[in-house]
Amino acid sequence: MKNAVTIVEMGLRDGLQNEKTVLDAETRVEIARRLTNAGVKRLEVGAFVSPKWVPQMAGTAEIVAQSFALVKQGVIPKKTEFSVLVPNEKGMLDAIASGVKEVAIFAACSESFSLKNINCSIDESFKRFEPVMALAKKHKIKVRGYLSTCFGCPFEGKVSEAKVIKLAQRMYKLGVYEISIGDTIGVANAGQVELMFKKLKKVVPVKKLAGHFHDTRGQALANILAAYKVGVKIFDTSLGGLGGCPYAPGATGNVATEDVVYMFHGMGIKTGLDLSKLVDLNPMVAEKIQHPLPSKVGKVGVLK
Ligand code: HMG
Ligand code: MG
Repeated sequence: MKNAVTIVEMGLRDGLQNEKTVLDAETRVEIARRLTNAGVKRLEVGAFVSPKWVPQMAGTAEIVAQSFALVKQGVIPKKTEFSVLVPNEKGMLDAIASGVKEVAIFAACSESFSLKNINCSIDESFKRFEPVMALAKKHKIKVRGYLSTCFGCPFEGKVSEAKVIKLAQRMYKLGVYEISIGDTIGVANAGQVELMFKKLKKVVPVKKLAGHFHDTRGQALANILAAYKVGVKIFDTSLGGLGGCPYAPGATGNVATEDVVYMFHGMGIKTGLDLSKLVDLNPMVAEKIQHPLPSKVGKVGVLK
């Protein structure tokens, strides 16, 4: 049997952070419930970032609390792993107070994106991670790391492969358990992705690498397949292809969860997700955010 892949669902964070319509906590928790009911085991449910910068992520503490309440009631499976994004110590303290057991830190591979996204240089962002990592250790919280603009920056253009490899090593040394390699503006192609991951796996074990592809230029599925063929088994996706990045002009959402699941299932590779349930969730989310979702499979479903 071919190896299974793990899907890390981004819709409630990467997806919603770029939507004009801000969804209330109740709706976001209902989406989380339905995602877990469709088999999602790892999901990022929000971000402890400044609400002045990203108002869509306000209410994250409430979402974590309500999601845990549903776990307690047996509505959401016990083993579900909820994560939240944190940019600094303040975000980490909020995460600890919420009771969440996993957080994600994020750094950019280009200086201009770092400044626009988190108002500091790349070096400064790594300094901010030090107290975050110390608190994580003390409170036994798992930390995932993201590297953004790995294949291109909306302000600087091309990003050097060597820089990405260096930053991945630096992030791994901090003690993150996994590094998600982000094509923030969906500019990569399959050839580049293959080369990048071949080099990355020489410095970070491939089991600890994830692919995070935005589908801005329609290349995400090809890029995922290229990464999979090099040994990557963890992919970040958003229900319906929701979202983008508020600080990456023109960026569209992560590749749609349903499109990725459709591809892998078609190839006989397990994801553990129920495609029909994901497709069924599309209309509810589209209605809430007040526009159709870009997912292809989400629109037409699967052949019976
Ligand atoms: P800043 O303005 O430089 O922060 O923002 P500051 O330290 O100068 O503080 C200013 C105010 O913000 C203070 O409040 C702080 O308390 C508050 P005031 O005294 O004015 O009332 N503050 C916070 N409030 C809530 N939560 C916090 C926090 N920290 C400080 N954690 C900051 C710096 C990092 C906070 C800001 O730039 C920010 O929140 N940025 C987040 C941007 C963001 O969320 N971007 C999207 C996620 S990244 C992404 O999508 C890429 C990814 O998907 C991968 C990929 O696709 O490549 C991960
Ligand atoms: Mg992203």
